[in-house]
Amino acid sequence: MAPVRGLAQAPRAGRWPSRVHVWFIGASVLILAGCAGPQSALAPSGLEAAWVAQLFWVMLIGAGLIWTLVIGFAIYVTRLNPQAHSEKAAGRLIVWGGVVFPVTVLGALLIYGLALMPALRAPGGGLRIEVSGEQWWWRVKYSPPGRAAPVTSANEIRLPVGQRSEIILTSPDVIHSFWIPSLAGKVDMIPGRINRIVLEPTETGVYRGQCAEYCGTAHALMAFSVVVMPRDKFAQWLEQEARPAATPRAPRIEKGRNLFLVTGCGACHTVRGTRARGVIGPDLTHVGSRRTIGAGTLVSNTKSIARFIAQTQRIKPGVRMPSFGMLPGKDIDAIAAYLESLE
Ligand code: CUA
Repeated sequence: MAPVRGLAQAPRAGRWPSRVHVWFIGASVLILAGCAGPQSALAPSGLEAAWVAQLFWVMLIGAGLIWTLVIGFAIYVTRLNPQAHSEKAAGRLIVWGGVVFPVTVLGALLIYGLALMPALRAPGGGLRIEVSGEQWWWRVKYSPPGRAAPVTSANEIRLPVGQRSEIILTSPDVIHSFWIPSLAGKVDMIPGRINRIVLEPTETGVYRGQCAEYCGTAHALMAFSVVVMPRDKFAQWLEQEARPAATPRAPRIEKGRNLFLVTGCGACHTVRGTRARGVIGPDLTHVGSRRTIGAGTLVSNTKSIARFIAQTQRIKPGVRMPSFGMLPGKDIDAIAAYLESLE
């Protein structure tokens, strides 16, 4: 039998490092630089994310070893020992390298991966939070044990550190995917189904969640902040979040509230303690305490709230709320000041 010489006859590669190598190394460094920060599955701050990251590293190292082995074989048969091999040796290679080895390695990795799953779905027992994926924002309802009515919020999730919280995931119309890479894996929110995920943050801090399933025009602008707090601080915060909105004291804030009510904002938004009871858009009772507005679109402050009201469709194209740029600028500023005061 004539020796197989396919790869051995390939043209020699250019001098190392070529321009392609430099680009490749540069791009790898840039990509790896994105592996830290508040939205990274490789910088876990939760028990579930730590398991997912560990699974990733086991798979990556396994894949790296197998790749090295296969490339080693290729170099061996094409460069180091390119003459013909006996039929018996080829048969042995196919049985051991092509059947036994992949079945053993893939079987072991599958068993390891499946063994992690029950822990990722274990019941919470503590706080229960219902999160509904809307177009394109997040409706959030906290039901801690012992509280009769849930506490409604939006576009920001707060969690106690070191405690398992159960998140119930639903959607009224289209499929979204709930993902806080630093805390856990992702789970889809599917109309007509109730999915759940359990989160146990291990470190306090602010993380970022993002819708991870294309759900329409503003999918990329469907994010949320996740604030992990010490347990006592979380309990205090939840007490505050359950209260109705504060009554304005300053005349300008009061004017803003009146404008908010007469211009019809209450048809879509709720501000508990006022006659604004709309449920189409996010609950704004404590919007001033949130870090962002427009579901992670802008950092929250009076100026950005005013901008969002005036140019809604420009800042977040496709959102259900129309732009209110027809209102006088000073009225928009007063409404924004009122909303920012709602802490
Ligand atoms: Cu919601 Cu993508």
